[in-house]
Amino acid sequence: MSLKNIKVIIKIASLLVINILITHSTHAQWLVANVAGRHVQSLNGSWAVIVDPFDVGESNWKPIWKNQHATGAHDFYEYAFDDAINLQVPGDWNSQRNDLVYYEGTVWYKKDFNYEPKAGQRSFLCFGGANYITDVFCNGEKVGSHEGGFTPFQFEVTNKLHTGKNEVIVRVNNQRRVDGIPALNYDWWNYGGITRDVDLVSTPTQYIQDYFIQLKRNDTSHITGWVKLAGVSHPTQLTIHIPELNFKYTAQTNDSGKANISFTAHPKLWSPTNPKLYKVQITTDTDTISELIGFRTVSVKGTNILLNGKPIFLRGINIHEQIPQRAGRAYSETDANMLLTWAQQLGCNFVRLTHYPHNEHMVRMADKMGILLWEEIPLWQGIQFSNPVILAKANRLLDEMIERDKNRSAIILWSLSNETTPSESRDTTLRDMAAHARLMDPTRLITSAFNHVAYKGNTVTIDDSLSKVLDVVGVNEYIGWYTPWPAEPQNMVWKNPFNKPLIMSEFGGEALYGHHGSKDTVSSWSEEYQEQLYKNQVAMFQNIPFLVGTTPWVLADFRSPGRLQPVYQQGWNRKGLLSDKGYRKKAWYIMQQYYKQKENNQ
Ligand code: GCU
Repeated sequence: MSLKNIKVIIKIASLLVINILITHSTHAQWLVANVAGRHVQSLNGSWAVIVDPFDVGESNWKPIWKNQHATGAHDFYEYAFDDAINLQVPGDWNSQRNDLVYYEGTVWYKKDFNYEPKAGQRSFLCFGGANYITDVFCNGEKVGSHEGGFTPFQFEVTNKLHTGKNEVIVRVNNQRRVDGIPALNYDWWNYGGITRDVDLVSTPTQYIQDYFIQLKRNDTSHITGWVKLAGVSHPTQLTIHIPELNFKYTAQTNDSGKANISFTAHPKLWSPTNPKLYKVQITTDTDTISELIGFRTVSVKGTNILLNGKPIFLRGINIHEQIPQRAGRAYSETDANMLLTWAQQLGCNFVRLTHYPHNEHMVRMADKMGILLWEEIPLWQGIQFSNPVILAKANRLLDEMIERDKNRSAIILWSLSNETTPSESRDTTLRDMAAHARLMDPTRLITSAFNHVAYKGNTVTIDDSLSKVLDVVGVNEYIGWYTPWPAEPQNMVWKNPFNKPLIMSEFGGEALYGHHGSKDTVSSWSEEYQEQLYKNQVAMFQNIPFLVGTTPWVLADFRSPGRLQPVYQQGWNRKGLLSDKGYRKKAWYIMQQYYKQKENNQ
């Protein structure tokens, strides 16, 4: 082995070790798992807001977050919420006010709430998500900050709350950042604000903080994982009870409250055709929590994905977290039900949640509806991989995604990135992230979506070297849209030198609903062109033996600032199979027919 290669290996190994040390010491402390299973006081609803484009509220000598009021003739305060406008939480601000449609900057939020403390109770402010940088203040004191627009964060406020009236003030800034994840430029709307649920959660002093309970990989009768208690300093007994299996299991934690679990059970296996969920209850002498958990295995064998030991074809669709009719962020159980019902109507058993973790209602709904999921963090195109902060930030976001959703049987794939350009720093980062994700969750598959594949004549070769560290490879190809057909679709040849299962993770083209024209002219923006494009894609898929799934780009038209065609786009990406009102374009029926055939052949 050459000296150069040895140096590269040493460098990668040292970066990997450093990152694991850094990340495990700095990643967001996950305080309360399964918020939905706890006694919560919802803070959703109308919040007072102050729009602060120059961010004066932070730096001012009398900062907004102190929310002070004039108390006498000579007191002067201009930053207070008394006469403020209001916004609904959860919800992006862009779709709530016409003067905020394009707003990128700071908005201050304030919510008053009553609190009746109970002896020995701990309290936590839990945010489902806010885009992009968030600072949280409780009764005039900063309790914490978070960077990232699509993962939950929590702060303990036990000693910050008063009996009776309290106020929480939140600064949210959605300005794009060169060192952000995502970075400065991306193809979706920069929806800002407290876009997801906010809850005040109470627990006992010693409580069940977190747990991971899933089937061991490739073993349908071996449940494995761990339970972590908070507030304990000595070995403590816990019980896991699965009533429907008439099963009880007790374990003893170590001094820091963690117990590894491993037991034999024979649950009915969760699958799209039978999304069986079991009530799993964890109990200690001071706390109890329960939730519905499905049990299934997922693995790779050759170029197949196996679900519960059997090959499966993933009939998928890409979904952005947007309700097109509202032109705003999806955030509720109703929204999740609508988006996933559309997917089921298309014939899907699989959804790629693009390009970021969606709200928790979406993943819990997929568990119930039996829809498999690919979930990803927004490491999308122009990431500043040469910046050393990116690796720790990316791994923290991976942590936050995996920590929230690790017990959701619907999720089979964690994805690291979307369309990143090969380079030494990008390769090192993604290799480290793949290792980190496997440390966090040894039960699921790791993937990534690439668009740097090699086109030569009628041949497409999957040649991104990162394929080596992935279980499954995603390829985004726009043949027939950005790339003309180099040959007849049925004569296209795909090569797979890394011998991995392939998901065609994006393909498609734009059409304005109701606009008709030539099926052979790409700039016709017609439904006929989009329909023909899908017919051609389906023809090509017939000759890709290692193709195990397809996710067309995209379920519904979505808002994007870069889509400027003044007649056909007007700030919308028109690649939806559904229009921005949810109406089906002609291409919808091509995919629906393809999936019906795939289902019949399964
Ligand atoms: C890319 C990208 C998407 C984008 C799409 C498009 O593949 O992953 O986020 O919207 O292309 O160009 O429409």
